[in-house]
Amino acid sequence: MQKRSLKPQRGFFPQPSYLIGTYKDDNTPNFALITWVTFCSVEPPMLMFASRGKKLTRELVEKRGVFSANLVTTKMMYMADYFGTTSGYSKNKCDEIAVEQMKGCVLDVPVLLESPWVYECSLVDIIEKGTGYIYVGEIKNIMVDETITDTTYGKIDLVKVDPLIYAPGQYYKIDSAIGSVGYSTKENS
Ligand SMILES: Cc1cc2nc3c(=O)[nH]c(=O)nc-3n(C[C@H](O)[C@H](O)[C@H](O)COP(=O)(O)O)c2cc1C
Repeated sequence: MQKRSLKPQRGFFPQPSYLIGTYKDDNTPNFALITWVTFCSVEPPMLMFASRGKKLTRELVEKRGVFSANLVTTKMMYMADYFGTTSGYSKNKCDEIAVEQMKGCVLDVPVLLESPWVYECSLVDIIEKGTGYIYVGEIKNIMVDETITDTTYGKIDLVKVDPLIYAPGQYYKIDSAIGSVGYSTKENS
């Protein structure tokens, strides 16, 4: 297939959506939609998210040293979009939109009841890269909905969990699982 070059840019990578939760000074919760999220260590388990520009989330993560990463489902799309397009500096976001939240089991972080899978993280590093910052968090606990019965690696039914997928400018949903990892080598051996 013929290719053409594009000038270096962010491109279109599909990404998971998380609402990063922090408590403000008055202990009201704040959530921001962050889609540049991935794992970076297995032992101890760690995840990282990238952020840039002036954001209340960055300020609070740096001040408090803890945050929650709440997986966003397609049902949470409106809430997520609102939290992703409204600055925590401009208003108390949780006053504007109905949000059921509780305190984490292990850390002092807000956990969204509607999210089926929530990481409680303790900040271990901040890495500056170009115009952005990478926040590395050690996963201290995961709060999972009881409806997700099988939490074994590779066995979670993602179609049922229904995460909101983001690619620049649009939100998507996952329709079906189409293959298990390793199927190519198993069939050939
Ligand atoms: C779809 C979407 C994805 C986003 N992903 C990121 C991201 O990965 N990193 C980031 O710093 N901001 C991201 N944002 C922007 C923040 O969510 C936004 O700036 C938000 O208002 C910050 O809120 P805060 O001031 O309460 O922290 C995203 C916004 C949208 C709508």
